[in-house]
Amino acid sequence: MTALDLSSPVAVVGTGTMGQGIAQVALVAGHPVRLYDTAPGRAREAAAAIGARLDRLVEKGRLDATARDAARARLAPAEALAELADCGLVVEAVVERLDVKQRLFGELEDVVDEDCLLATNTSSLSVTAIGGALRHPGRFLGLHFFNPAPLLPLVEVVSGFATDVTSATRAYETARAWGKTPVACADTPGFIVNRIARPFYAEAFAVYEAQAADPATIDAVLRESGGFRMGAFELTDLIGQDVNEAVTHSVWQAFFQDVRFTPSLAQRRLVESGRLGRKAGHGWYDHGEGAEKPEPHTADKEQPPAYVLAEGDLGPAAELLALIREAGIQVRTEDGDEDGHLELPGGGQLVLADGQTSV
Ligand SMILES: NC(=O)c1ccc[n+]([C@@H]2O[C@H](COP(=O)([O-])OP(=O)(O)OC[C@H]3O[C@@H](n4cnc5c(N)ncnc54)[C@H](O)[C@@H]3O)[C@@H](O)[C@H]2O)c1
Repeated sequence: MTALDLSSPVAVVGTGTMGQGIAQVALVAGHPVRLYDTAPGRAREAAAAIGARLDRLVEKGRLDATARDAARARLAPAEALAELADCGLVVEAVVERLDVKQRLFGELEDVVDEDCLLATNTSSLSVTAIGGALRHPGRFLGLHFFNPAPLLPLVEVVSGFATDVTSATRAYETARAWGKTPVACADTPGFIVNRIARPFYAEAFAVYEAQAADPATIDAVLRESGGFRMGAFELTDLIGQDVNEAVTHSVWQAFFQDVRFTPSLAQRRLVESGRLGRKAGHGWYDHGEGAEKPEPHTADKEQPPAYVLAEGDLGPAAELLALIREAGIQVRTEDGDEDGHLELPGGGQLVLADGQTSV
């Protein structure tokens, strides 16, 4: 099964944040792209915004001017759904409401050919439910891009209950041909990424609610020890507390209110008070003009021990020895030490033994 032919037009319905990004991806890959939005003038504005982004790519040397001009010529806003009749793929990125999406796909089915792939970019609704009423649900599936779609490679290719293998494979190969990293998955709440991400946010918010640490400290730990690009508080301020909470709520409901996915009361208060994150000027953090980000609370520096004793097979903790030496602290092994433990100035002992560190 091959990817969608490049001569086949791709339609994007709903030309907000995600629709514009997805349209840009299909356009740069080489397809003619049609944009449709119910808000008057929105599709035209989206075409202009995509054009401006292509200009910036040219300025940065990531796209040549001839390719930009050809891409612009392939991009067209549509005034009516009927103009999408010859498309080989329609990707929907409208408001996250089941009734709106169901109605839209019903209308689209009356317009496009039977072999046109129909895809939803839903983050949290059931693909099976959206496509439930279609006459030909076999060609319906989820194509879940991440924001910003032109930059983030992952695309979840979601098969609903009725999606046929041919359609899922064709969508998968198309996403790959567009330079994305597609991942096939089944239609379960939150798919893969949004499900796995829920405990990341929930646990950070629970730590805060238990007054164990403040957002800046928890974020610093997640970034610096967890290796995440952003902590849960700064990331949800970027996403929007309302958007993030809505996905959590939806996954929680879809799992029959499983406690693992329980929404956060602290986040609820942010949403209720309009503290939606960067877009509102404040969320967990103040994003107002000139606002300074709070510093994490860190422990006072202690006197380093005279030496560290390494006992037995340290496993992955063996890497710590290089860091300890780098810090100018002597490392001794069991053979070179009589009682096996080291007294620290504060009265504690520091022993690295069998993969564990204890102080
Ligand atoms: N924003 C994200 O980070 C993100 C990430 C992945 C998936 N999604 C999903 O993508 C979809 C769109 O999200 P967004 O953030 O781009 O929304 P958005 O609000 O930026 O854009 C939605 C657009 O859809 C249009 N629209 C509404 N109803 C329509 C209809 N019936 N027909 C045509 N156009 C219609 C609106 O006028 C608007 O321009 C949602 O399903 C969302 O869950 C969002």
